[in-house]
Amino acid sequence: MRVLWQLFDNNKKWAARMREASPDFFEVLFRQQQPDYLWIGCADSRVPANEITGLLPGELFVHRNVANLVIHTDLNCLSVIQYAVEVLRVGHIIVCGHLGCGGIRAVLEGEKMGLIDNWLRHVQDTAGKHRALLDSARTDEARQDLLCRLNVIEQVCNLVSTPIVRDAWDRGQALSLHGWIYDIRDGILHDLGLCVTRPDEIGAFYRKAVGEVSGAGDA
Ligand code: CO
Repeated sequence: MRVLWQLFDNNKKWAARMREASPDFFEVLFRQQQPDYLWIGCADSRVPANEITGLLPGELFVHRNVANLVIHTDLNCLSVIQYAVEVLRVGHIIVCGHLGCGGIRAVLEGEKMGLIDNWLRHVQDTAGKHRALLDSARTDEARQDLLCRLNVIEQVCNLVSTPIVRDAWDRGQALSLHGWIYDIRDGILHDLGLCVTRPDEIGAFYRKAVGEVSGAGDA
């Protein structure tokens, strides 16, 4: 408390406000959480998942990493997905990227930042896959926006191919995967047109979403 006292002060006021609005709010939450959504977003401080979706504690299960990546060997992310799907039985997984993402910009500008370059290599792979499309963007900003969107689309594809999601669908569990982008310039969320509820849907949704974002990247 000697340092960062402001945060503890804020916390006391917040807890008091929550109790005022709903006296048994924390008691109920202590007993269990029943979120219907798993949010996989960027660690960026400007994209606070609960706030921008207007959801309360207990309503959103959250995993965040730099550039909102779903990597098949990332036990941290996979463990979150497995717990969310198999234990909490969420109905929706949202991959949410954001415009102005520092990780995406670093990849396009070839910036060297140390250890994190290894993590961002996955974004570099996505950039390589869509090189022609990215080269067609008229400005650097449009190219960055385009890669932010393409990166989300690729992560939804990665989600579709995880055994966790496949197994859930195989046993008939209702589970929808979504790809969203958040614009930090105006605080508005946009659906990228991906809403995958079965393994056979991803092909068509992928082509449609890439087609739509290429139009946006050309603007
Ligand atoms: Co970011």
